[in-house]
Amino acid sequence: AETGCLSIVVLGASGDLAKKKTFPALFNLYRQRFLNPDEGHIFGYARTKISDDELRNRIRGNLVPGKGASGEQLEEVSKFLQLIRYVSGSYDSEEGFRLLDKEISKHEFSKNTKEGSSRRLFYLALPPSVYPSVCKMIRNCCMNKSDLGGWTRIVVEKPFGKDLDSSEQLSAQIGELFDEQQIYRIDHYLGKELVQNLLVLRFANRFFLPLWNRDNIDNVQIVFREDFGTEGRGGYFDEYGIIRDIIQNHLLQILCLIAMEKPISLTPEHIRDEKVKVLQSVLPIKDEEVFLGQYDGYTDDPTVPDNSNTPTFATMILRIHNERWEGVPFILKAGKALNSRKAEIRIQFKTVPGDIFKCQKQGRNEIVIRLQPSEAIYMKVTVKQPGLEMSTIQSELDLSYQQRYQGVTIPEAYERLILDTIRGDQQHFVRRDELKAAWEIFTPLLHRIDNGEVKPIPYRPGSRGPEEADQLLERAGYVLTHGYSWVPPT
Ligand code: BG6
Repeated sequence: AETGCLSIVVLGASGDLAKKKTFPALFNLYRQRFLNPDEGHIFGYARTKISDDELRNRIRGNLVPGKGASGEQLEEVSKFLQLIRYVSGSYDSEEGFRLLDKEISKHEFSKNTKEGSSRRLFYLALPPSVYPSVCKMIRNCCMNKSDLGGWTRIVVEKPFGKDLDSSEQLSAQIGELFDEQQIYRIDHYLGKELVQNLLVLRFANRFFLPLWNRDNIDNVQIVFREDFGTEGRGGYFDEYGIIRDIIQNHLLQILCLIAMEKPISLTPEHIRDEKVKVLQSVLPIKDEEVFLGQYDGYTDDPTVPDNSNTPTFATMILRIHNERWEGVPFILKAGKALNSRKAEIRIQFKTVPGDIFKCQKQGRNEIVIRLQPSEAIYMKVTVKQPGLEMSTIQSELDLSYQQRYQGVTIPEAYERLILDTIRGDQQHFVRRDELKAAWEIFTPLLHRIDNGEVKPIPYRPGSRGPEEADQLLERAGYVLTHGYSWVPPT
């Protein structure tokens, strides 16, 4: 492992993302000794003029583990907070960034041993509109000290643009300043335990290898549901909508991992090469295979215009034009303000030819991978109903993580991904060409929505979503069962 001085700079330190995700993830890494206090230092940077202690106090609430926190835990929080320094400055003037560089350098010289190095990680917990200027400032003022060796890396969050052109423009601007190896584009779904399990499941199990294709799989469903609305984020959300917020990134990344060919190896480039191929094989989305919704009351948010056309719900079918997947619909569904919070993948198999048990109505084989809540993988299988009769029933082979891995804490996505950025592993980050291919899929549809040519249908908050969405699937030959899963008519 690399040693020497590590400086983590959180830009936008007083914002929501930093408070809720970035600092808690850093704290967890610290607690598990992945951030060595003898080497590491954390800097917060933002415009607000506050002191080190004021920043620490703002962060503290999100680190303390609730009411019953022990003295030891509180002590740990305090020690962690002492690693944080705050520098205030604007995002587009050199003055602040020169000051930041001075503070980082001071720390590097105070910590450095001869073999030490200058490792600088810049986490942009900021709106993308300031990425270009912030990147330029980092490039001009804050790069690692080359005489010490080490590296400079930047971590950015979605949204990376609003469509193909704006995304490409942003990529070009950042690309002039940093090499692709220095840029870590976060999609936090790639840090989720069960998303990281997908390649293992697919490529380390003989069971699945021969079945994973159009001959055996009928359809794939990737579903994201949230039981709350935009809550205070209406202004942001209205500019983006559910497709840009969830489907173009989180669900599409899952689709890639389900659909891609086996990579040559686990090196980040090999994995991402395969993902890009899948994305490039997705056919243009047909209007009749998209259904949009907007929950009633969405426009009550004062930051959302009354006539907003922004979808908070979408179901659509993506089709992959290659030898493995031709004819298999990938049904993507995402919605806010629904009746439950859940993210899962359902891989539904075709029926068994020549059904001698007459059991098809009971349902077919299916693999369900539940990302949250309660991580689980289960396979629906048909078995003999226990007893004297020869009748069949559908049952499950069930791997529920809480039961099987009792006492194991599943790391937060951000924790894992930040550790990867420190280690220099880009496997779970989005590469530039991958991002471009992702935007290519959705841009025509997004433009039609932005122009008001495709409109969302209202639905009741707390419901399953607009009923008409089911008709889309019915038209495609699927009928609804159990509230949120579809099977083709038998
Ligand atoms: C974010 C979206 O990327 O993911 C939010 O911007 C959404 O709108 C969130 O709520 C969901 O993440 P998770 O990890 O809670 O499923």
